[in-house]
Amino acid sequence: MTLVGISPTGAESGAPRDSSGRRLAAGIFVGRERELQDLQLNMEEALAGRGRLVLVAGEPGIGKTSIAHELAAHARSRGLQVLWGRCDDSGGAPAYWPWVQIIRSFVSDAAPLDVTAAMGPGAAYIAEIVPDVRDWLLHLPPRPSLDLEQARFRLFDSVTTFFRNAAKEHGLVVMIDDLHEADKPSLLLLEFLTRQIAEAHLMVVCLYRDVEVGREHPLFPTLGELSREPVTSRLRLRGLGEREVGQYVELTTGREPPAGLVEAVYRRTDGNPFFVMEIVRLLHEERTLEHAERVRSWGTAIPEGVRAAIVRRLDLLSPECNRLLRVAAVIGREFGIDVLERVSEFSRERLLEVLDEAIGAGIITESQGWRYLFSHALVRDALYEDLTTTRRLRLHRQVGDVLEALHAARPEPYLAEFAHHFSAAAAQGGDVSKAIGYSVRAGERAAVLMAHEDAARHYELALRLLELSGASDSGRLLDLLLMLSDSLWRAGEIERAKAVSLHAVEMARNLNASEL
Ligand SMILES: Nc1ncnc2c1ncn2[C@@H]1O[C@H](COP(=O)(O)OP(=O)(O)OP(=O)(O)O)[C@@H](O)[C@H]1O
Ligand SMILES: [Mg+2]
Repeated sequence: MTLVGISPTGAESGAPRDSSGRRLAAGIFVGRERELQDLQLNMEEALAGRGRLVLVAGEPGIGKTSIAHELAAHARSRGLQVLWGRCDDSGGAPAYWPWVQIIRSFVSDAAPLDVTAAMGPGAAYIAEIVPDVRDWLLHLPPRPSLDLEQARFRLFDSVTTFFRNAAKEHGLVVMIDDLHEADKPSLLLLEFLTRQIAEAHLMVVCLYRDVEVGREHPLFPTLGELSREPVTSRLRLRGLGEREVGQYVELTTGREPPAGLVEAVYRRTDGNPFFVMEIVRLLHEERTLEHAERVRSWGTAIPEGVRAAIVRRLDLLSPECNRLLRVAAVIGREFGIDVLERVSEFSRERLLEVLDEAIGAGIITESQGWRYLFSHALVRDALYEDLTTTRRLRLHRQVGDVLEALHAARPEPYLAEFAHHFSAAAAQGGDVSKAIGYSVRAGERAAVLMAHEDAARHYELALRLLELSGASDSGRLLDLLLMLSDSLWRAGEIERAKAVSLHAVEMARNLNASEL
């Protein structure tokens, strides 16, 4: 078999890379020639000043993020700038989170003069959602006080103008990963931007799991809106073919696969690269490939499903490492070492050793500033789901407590995270009034950021928690209903806003009657 398909970012082929999972499969990319060509054509269009939006869809682990990385490498080699944002609902991200990350990474790499030139007067609006902009651009005037509807239009317009300007000189690719986890205000901003990029040197690539987007999903109407725009095209990824699975096995292990293995892996995985990768890593770590002659049937050596493959690989790690990873999974897809240290009560030294074990096995990767990221959402989910409900909820409370203490001086950017952990804990014996308090504050914060849909979501959660607590605090209930109705109204959900305010009026009437 010939060795083909090493990615431009990839390492050399040949001998096994090394014995640890960290290197195994690193930089290997097979197939996808047609899809990459399609993406590159779109990129050339954008470079020529005909902006493009590409929606890349497919099941979990099918290779959306990987192909986007390949495109990013190609784009950089053509001189374009590439900015990434990842949507994340695993740890209570604040409103506009993908956009915040994208703008932040532009700002942190650019000279203040370039930031000023790209943002213009819109900087004051952008600084509302990305406070770093204000730290960066000294003497920025405060945002003019407009009514909230106008302010949201100005914010969307400012962000769009910024991207168009930033793309002008060299071209810009904006990648939004895991769009199915985006907050509604982020999706509305994406719709707004897409309507304005026809003449920009900008390519926006959005990756999402189509299997998760049913009719009720917030992304569903957005996909409808985006598809109507002439700048939009779609790309759906399917499984790799048997030939590519064979290439993958050969490239990762550095040896010709034993007879029957490739066919068995292909049949079991349908060519899903994540599943293929997990199986190859597992067989490698269990040293099955070295003693392939002992395997009677590959069907029995290969785990049944993705989850089984992950669990079997986790079983190869030390019990301490497993325990730590489960704590990390509760913090979220991405976690800081400071929070993990306090919740796990490991010493910093021991913690680093155990984290190194997980990095070596390819379970997590290092991110910036003492932060770590699960190498894949599917691994984090498997760990999270493996916890008993009691332990999971207890950990949510502990994580909430630690976050609260760590960010006591400046809690605003973390209110959604506090609300996420305390409300999860409240479902089983946690402090419900604290969970309500943070949900309300997270809602108020979202309202200030003109993220009305997010505000409504937080108020709805607070109402559910109030109900759960069984407290008969009518005054609080009434306040919450009014806040929810206001947010729904601003979010354009007029019918629901009316229903909630009618309910509030009825409650107020009953209250007055009982007070008379
Ligand atoms: N074409 C490919 N060649 C080799 N390996 C691949 C390829 N595509 C994906 N992989 C491997 O499969 C794993 C899963 O791919 P990726 O993370 O891109 O999937 P995804 O579609 O983004 O999944 P999710 O929906 O969970 O985010 C990656 O870690 C990568 O190592
Ligand atoms: Mg992905």
